[in-house]
Amino acid sequence: MQTQKNVAVLSQQALKNNVHQLRKLAPHSKILAMVKANAYGHGVLGVSELITPLVDGLAVATIEEAYALRKAHPTYQNIVVMDGVLFLDELIFAIENQLTLVLHHQYELDLFEQYLKNNTHKLISPLFIWVQIDTGMHRLGFLPPEIPNLLLRLNALQEKNLINIKGWLTHFSASDDLADEANQMQLSSFNQHVAQLVGEKSMANSAAILQIPQSHQDWIRPGLLLYGASPIESKTAASLGFKPVMTLTSPILAIRSISAGTRIGYNGIWQSKRDSVIATIGIGYGDGYPRHIQENTPVWLNGQCFPIVGRVSMDMMMIDITDNQSDHLRLIGSKVELWGKHIPIEEIAKQANTIPYELFCQLTHRIQFNWEA
Ligand SMILES: Cc1ncc(COP(=O)(O)O)c(C=O)c1O
Repeated sequence: MQTQKNVAVLSQQALKNNVHQLRKLAPHSKILAMVKANAYGHGVLGVSELITPLVDGLAVATIEEAYALRKAHPTYQNIVVMDGVLFLDELIFAIENQLTLVLHHQYELDLFEQYLKNNTHKLISPLFIWVQIDTGMHRLGFLPPEIPNLLLRLNALQEKNLINIKGWLTHFSASDDLADEANQMQLSSFNQHVAQLVGEKSMANSAAILQIPQSHQDWIRPGLLLYGASPIESKTAASLGFKPVMTLTSPILAIRSISAGTRIGYNGIWQSKRDSVIATIGIGYGDGYPRHIQENTPVWLNGQCFPIVGRVSMDMMMIDITDNQSDHLRLIGSKVELWGKHIPIEEIAKQANTIPYELFCQLTHRIQFNWEA
C-alpha cells in the first residue's frame, strides 16, 4: 500500500564519505562509532549493518541498546556499553553476550566481584572493560586520586584473567569551544594520570576530532560527524568535508489560497500580508519536528526555499508557497525537505534554539527510513 509517510532518506554514500573523512582526520586512530540513541535517530540496525565493515567498534549507551545490536550482529567483537551496568542481571547479560563495559564507578566492580563469588566457573572469557576517568566533565568516571586503589582491584582481577582492560577513556566537556580552558586542563590531566597506564587510550568526540588533534590517541569516538552534521556552531559540516546522511521529507497534503489579512493555524499567530498560497505538509511535533521553530524557517521544495508559517502542530505544519512559479495544485503529494541535502540541520537547530543532536534524537517512530545508494 502506498502511504503518505514522512520519510528520512538515508545516504549510504554520505555515511561512507564521513567515515573516510574521519580516517583522514585521525589516520593513526581506530574508530569507535557512536550508534547510541538509535544511531542518533538514523536507525541503529541500518547504520550498523553498513558501518561495521568500515569501523573498529560500535558504542551504545545502555544494555538495552546493546541487546538490539547483539541480536543483529551475533558474532561482532567490539560492542561497547558506554553507561556500564547498574544491576547484576545487566552484568550477566553483558558477560553472556561478550559486551565490553565502560567501568566508571566502584559500584560496577562490586557487582562483578559479587558475580564472581558463585559464578567464576561460568566465565568463559574475561570481562572486557574500558575504564573511564573523570578529567573534568564530572558526569561519569573515576577521579584521578581514585586511580591507585582502582588499579589494585583491577590488577588482582586481571592476574586471575577475570578481567581484561582494553583501555582508558575520558570525555571532554567543551570540545566544541576551543576557547574554553577546560580542554587543555582535561588533556593535561589525562596525560598526567592515564598516559602511562597499560592499555589503549581514547578521548575525542566529534568536536575534539576536528579541533584537538592531540586528543586523537588510539581510539576516536565520533557520533555527530558520522551522520554528517557539524558539532561546531561556526562551521558547517559541508565546509569540513562531511555530508548529511539524513534528508527528512514530508509530503504536501493540501494547498489553499488565502486573502491578505488571513490568520492561519493554531491561535492564528501568523497573518498573511498579501494574497497567499499556503501548503499544508504532513509533519509536526508528533514526528519530532520542533514545535518551537521560529517563523520563516526554510523548507526546500523543487529547488526553492519556502518559509514555515503559523504554529507547528502535532501532525502538520504550513508553508507559504506564494512565490512558487509552477502550477500550485500540481504540488499536492510533492515531497518537501525539512533538513538534509539542501537545508543543513545545523540551520534548523539554530532556528529551534537547540543542537542537531536533539533534533535527530527527537524523531519518532512515525518516520520511515529509506536507504539509498
Ligand atoms: C562518552 C562519549 N563519547 C563520544 C560521544 C560522541 O560525541 P559526538 O556525537 O559529539 O561525536 C559521546 C556523545 O555524547 C559520548 O557521551
